[in-house]
Amino acid sequence: MYTPDAIGTPGAANATKVLLLGSGELGREVTIALQRLGVEVHAVDRYTGAPAQRVADFQYTIDMTDPQAVRALVEQVRPDFVVPEIEALATDALAEVEDAGLATVVPTARATQLTMNREGIRTLADKELGLPNSRHVFASTYEEFEDGVRQIGIPCVVKPVMSSSGKGQSYIRDSEDIAPAWEYAMSGGRVRSERVIIEQFVPFDYEITLLTIRSVDPATGEDATWFCEPIGHRQQHGDYVESWQPAQMSEEALGAARSVAARITGALGGRGVFGVELFIKGNDVYFSEVSPRPHDTGMVTMGSQRFSEFDLHARAILGLPIDTTLVSPGASAVIYGGTEGDAPSYAGLAQALNVPEADVRIFGKPVAHERRRMGVAFTTAESTDLARQTAKKAADAVSLHVK
Ligand SMILES: Nc1ncnc2c1ncn2[C@@H]1O[C@H](COP(=O)(O)OP(=O)(O)OP(=O)(O)O)[C@@H](O)[C@H]1O
Ligand SMILES: [Mg+2]
Repeated sequence: MYTPDAIGTPGAANATKVLLLGSGELGREVTIALQRLGVEVHAVDRYTGAPAQRVADFQYTIDMTDPQAVRALVEQVRPDFVVPEIEALATDALAEVEDAGLATVVPTARATQLTMNREGIRTLADKELGLPNSRHVFASTYEEFEDGVRQIGIPCVVKPVMSSSGKGQSYIRDSEDIAPAWEYAMSGGRVRSERVIIEQFVPFDYEITLLTIRSVDPATGEDATWFCEPIGHRQQHGDYVESWQPAQMSEEALGAARSVAARITGALGGRGVFGVELFIKGNDVYFSEVSPRPHDTGMVTMGSQRFSEFDLHARAILGLPIDTTLVSPGASAVIYGGTEGDAPSYAGLAQALNVPEADVRIFGKPVAHERRRMGVAFTTAESTDLARQTAKKAADAVSLHVK
């Protein structure tokens, strides 16, 4: 049994072990943060050579949607914590692991079950908690879908209930878009012939990620909630292209955002970092979705905060103190593949790092794709406006080349 007063030694029989399910760039930073606190990390992905696997103590390649494979690996590794990094997992197997007392699932098995399906999390937010969110309905057949679009009205947004990174997602702007939106959603989901959500289009002024952390408050010994400064971001083709912190918001909107974030994360429970995605219109806040783990837009915190969202996730998992201090305004900009092929090489690092207050992470993914996220640049500056400019400049300086 793990206690924060007995972190073991990696490689020894008493090691404190984390089994990381999903080994992307966010998982790589979580791995490093955990290792710095003395934890032994076992990194899992569906392909070999994933970013976190390259730095972890042990690595495995399995089909993480296969419940038997997940369960077998938990029994083999015997981790103290199972830390999901992605949504597409055999979450029922995680519930079994939790029920059997084999390991702590971060933040909870139920949180991973609810958030992997838009229907689960939106129903919790809307029906159980009464959080403000866009009007929506779900549909399983084309008839239900047409009906749903009529009910919600145009413009609206269509998404497979099990999808991420904008896959299968489209906007209906006039009636000609209805049939293609259904076709596109059916082709873009994680599983075939699944349900879709039809959401009212929210004409928001801006959107934010509110990183929210649940850990132990050393003053009381009880679980408590912390908030980072809000992160603004811009999405394109279903992926974030740039983010900045702090996002300028009115006191009223920030208060409402924190209240929504506290309620949804409190309902999910457990310990860890959550990325609460919110749309803001004037002083009104709309809940969109929540990741029960660090958020891609939160990569900006590697420069802007004393402790990044990855450090904070590691601390929260271990029940350690949380410090969300912002040290400077900052921004991040994604470095995309921009090319196709294996073993890309990277040009322009010197130029990127010559940009004032800039740093980069190259993820080292074995294969590049045009729209694949291959790295990130992040900067600090006097203002977020300036940081956004320098982050973009640093990201643009890096280019990938395939022989
Ligand atoms: N109802 C809506 N009204 C207006 N814009 C929306 C709406 N739903 C989604 N969007 C836009 O599309 C983006 C992606 O939506 P959402 O977060 O639901 O999808 P996702 O596929 O889970 O994306 P990701 O995995 O990158 O977070 C949002 O950040 C927002 O910019
Ligand atoms: Mg999202």
